Amino acid sequence: MTIDIFWRIPTHGEPSSHRARIPFRGDWFPGNDNLRKAGLGGGGADGFNYLDYIAEIAHAAEVSGFQGGLIPSFPMTDEPWVISSLLARETSTFRFMIPFQPGFLNPVVAARMTASLQRATGGRALYNVITGGGGPSQLWWGDSAGHDDRYTRTTEFLDVVRGVWRGGPFSYQGKFYQVEDAGLAHPLSEQEFPEIYFSGSSDAALVSASRHADYYLTWLEPFDQLREKFRRVKEKTDQLGRKIKCAVRVDIIARPTEEEAWEEVRKGFDNVDPATLRQFLGQDGGDSVGAARQRGNRPSTINSYKDLISEPNIWTGFNLFRGGQTQGIVGSYEQVAQRLDDLVQLGADAFILASTPHLEEAYRVGEEVLPLLRGHSNSQLLRAVG
Ligand SMILES: Cc1cc2nc3c(=O)[nH]c(=O)nc-3n(C[C@H](O)[C@H](O)[C@H](O)COP(=O)(O)O)c2cc1C
Repeated sequence: MTIDIFWRIPTHGEPSSHRARIPFRGDWFPGNDNLRKAGLGGGGADGFNYLDYIAEIAHAAEVSGFQGGLIPSFPMTDEPWVISSLLARETSTFRFMIPFQPGFLNPVVAARMTASLQRATGGRALYNVITGGGGPSQLWWGDSAGHDDRYTRTTEFLDVVRGVWRGGPFSYQGKFYQVEDAGLAHPLSEQEFPEIYFSGSSDAALVSASRHADYYLTWLEPFDQLREKFRRVKEKTDQLGRKIKCAVRVDIIARPTEEEAWEEVRKGFDNVDPATLRQFLGQDGGDSVGAARQRGNRPSTINSYKDLISEPNIWTGFNLFRGGQTQGIVGSYEQVAQRLDDLVQLGADAFILASTPHLEEAYRVGEEVLPLLRGHSNSQLLRAVG
């Protein structure tokens, strides 16, 4: 059995630690006074920009035993297709997990973009298909389709991408897409079809995932809930005569001792401003079932970081530090590896790990945590970490 382990590329800027609040690494974050102070000793600009920084992270992940990295896609991030193309020439084995909402792209164009990227990189692109969280965040993209309609659109989109991939001629009459005699041309039609990681926790998501996904991707949730989630998606996929694997996206804070790891959390928590805490405790306006499941695990009041410890070594306050999902693993190297191994035992076949700052932590996790993961010592992914 092999476990695929990915890292994450912070295309939204990042601070130097969980304790720091200003995402000064990179050159694009608006209103970032610290950047003006960065540069050469003599005061001149050093020409090092955020793309150089994320290229360093991609390279660190590559040499530390990760397969590649998730390049997130939110309103405040850079555009992942473009970033993948830019990083392609900086790396040799790093695989680009590209999240995108199918509704925002024409499927034939998307197939061609993907095949071009596969051709240029030797097949290093893969998809994280996301279908959107509804509400104001969906309207930001100009999309007012309802929750289940979005999933129908995702399914049709992937039908078309698959249909045209091998050259066609392919025709399709769907609710959202109609295609006639389409197909990629040689040599694009010979490229490897990208592996599909699929995110979404609703029933509509499971229907679409069971038809198209190679990996069903979820945020970390309480372990019993995850076991049930994996069981449901595997059962649904089996009914179609297909097989699906499961993947977990999880933040970690791993230190030589458990005390040091919690101390990092405490310092970070003490720096959280009251507005962020209020926002964390409030509700957001979307229709995402996955986001609601994350909110469901929060206490109603919080006085200390300890109020957010939900199970041994699990902390549910990660989005106080950087937005996004809430739950992650905190502990000694051994404990973090053990919790990841517990997830493998309950059905995880892949992980997307992350920690701040992503550069140094890629090396740390690659050196200290990945070699401790048990049960898959033959994994080619651990090749670079001895
Ligand atoms: C691991 C993971 C990563 C995700 N990454 C993104 C992302 O980069 N951008 C985004 O807009 N939504 C992202 N999402 C949101 C989901 O794809 C999906 O749109 C949302 O969960 C709503 O679907 P649901 O109601 O089926 O849960 C992510 C979800 C998961 C589980």
